Amino acid sequence: MTDKLVIFDTTLRDGEQSPGASMTQDEKLRIARQLERLKVDVIEAGFAASSNGDFHCVQAIASVIKDAVVCSLSRANDRDVSRSVEALKPARHGRVHIFIATSPLHMEKKLRMSPEEVLEQARLSVRFARQHMSDIEFSAEDGYRSDLDFLARVCEAVIKEGTTTINIPDTVGYAIPELYGNFIKSLREKVPNSDKVVWSVHCHNDLGMAVANSLAGVKFGGARQVECTINGLGERAGNCSLEEVVMAVKTRRDYFGLDVGIDTTQIVPASKLVSSTTGFVVQPNKAVVGANAFAHASGIHQDGVLKARNTYEIMRAQDVGWNANKIVLGKLSGRTAFKQRLHDLGVVMDSDADVMTAFMKFKELADRKKDIFDEDILALVGESSSTAHKERYGFVSLSHQSTTGTQPHAEIVFTEDGTEVRAAAVGNGSVDASLKAIESHVKSGAELVLYSVNAISGSTESQGEVTVRLQDSGRIVNGVGADPDIIVASAKAYLSALNKLSSQVERIPAQG
Ligand code: KIV
Ligand code: ZN
Repeated sequence: MTDKLVIFDTTLRDGEQSPGASMTQDEKLRIARQLERLKVDVIEAGFAASSNGDFHCVQAIASVIKDAVVCSLSRANDRDVSRSVEALKPARHGRVHIFIATSPLHMEKKLRMSPEEVLEQARLSVRFARQHMSDIEFSAEDGYRSDLDFLARVCEAVIKEGTTTINIPDTVGYAIPELYGNFIKSLREKVPNSDKVVWSVHCHNDLGMAVANSLAGVKFGGARQVECTINGLGERAGNCSLEEVVMAVKTRRDYFGLDVGIDTTQIVPASKLVSSTTGFVVQPNKAVVGANAFAHASGIHQDGVLKARNTYEIMRAQDVGWNANKIVLGKLSGRTAFKQRLHDLGVVMDSDADVMTAFMKFKELADRKKDIFDEDILALVGESSSTAHKERYGFVSLSHQSTTGTQPHAEIVFTEDGTEVRAAAVGNGSVDASLKAIESHVKSGAELVLYSVNAISGSTESQGEVTVRLQDSGRIVNGVGADPDIIVASAKAYLSALNKLSSQVERIPAQG
């Protein structure tokens, strides 16, 4: 057993399964690069067989990531495994991640398979994968609700076939730390060849215990890989949060006695990138990455921290990257400085034309806003890549009038398949009028299920970042827009959500 804890990030796969969190290839690449800067050990890039889009994302990520292992999820069948193997061909270090459900409930109701059939399918799929890849992970879906003896037989069989990591998910977030820790421990004790693999934990947060359960699986169960996501992104209540698990192990090294290879100063930039890309806002009191995580409001606390920081702080804000939010560029910065900053932020653009589009947007923004922060640059890069990739709808301009006592009016110009469209409407407020103006032309009929505004960099001079969530025929998408004028940011967010609605491809869900 090693005393290194492997950090397996699944933001781009399990995190993306969160309704509305779907990401484009460019967005995934940007996040993958940030994950590499964060020095995660494994990046689960997607589920190659679930759609052509996912296949290409895994392939693209496998081509650019050099240090981390790049992983693709597969159901336990030869076709899925072949798709993963194919997508991972460019990877320096690739891993196929095979899963099949092992709980009585899932086997009977979902798979309609007997336990013996499941065991055989697990065995055969690992055998097949082993012919093409040496790094293989096997996950027993709904593992925590499985019969321990049966699960032990499955684990023993897949280890014999060459699995190198075994993951025992708490797929539905049902576990309790003590019980989960003991479950992993008993399982490892029951499996005769358990020392041949790395054991992994993968916990969902339905009862708010994903991090606690994962840590119990490590401390008491002997797991040495934790599967987690940035900001705890994931279906329903989300997955185990990477930043919390990493900082717990680092801050309480005295207790866990484990090393993690993470560059913690990249945690906050990663959190901000994932939040602005998906539109999932981080709650202010979220541990480590929430805006208030290091803010001391009470006089007694402030006094204590000023006298000795460790009176009330167990971690340093700068150690998790809070000082990364510095003024980086201004009105007079040139293209070289802009390009350098993009490079430092890990943003790679396809062509000089894309850089130029982003630079022009930066200049426009710098005319309206004195200081440009990293978050501003990331927001405009997101917009520029959607312009460059010819999304269906694009923002051009907006004017709105709102005087106390009169009904606000908005007039918007936007592009639809490259043609300029002009539309106007009145509404309950300027935001309402702008979105109604867009809808008066597009007639998507989608339901607006969430609207939220966030200040990108904390002051009134900041850009507003708006998230709009639309629901249409059971599909949910998030659109994000940023601008110093929040009415414009709202219109951009609405158009971005419409783009996602019109482009989203059907996928096979991992937990179908
Ligand atoms: O939660 C789960 O069981 C999963 C598996 C597919 C690994 O995400
Ligand atoms: Zn999961």
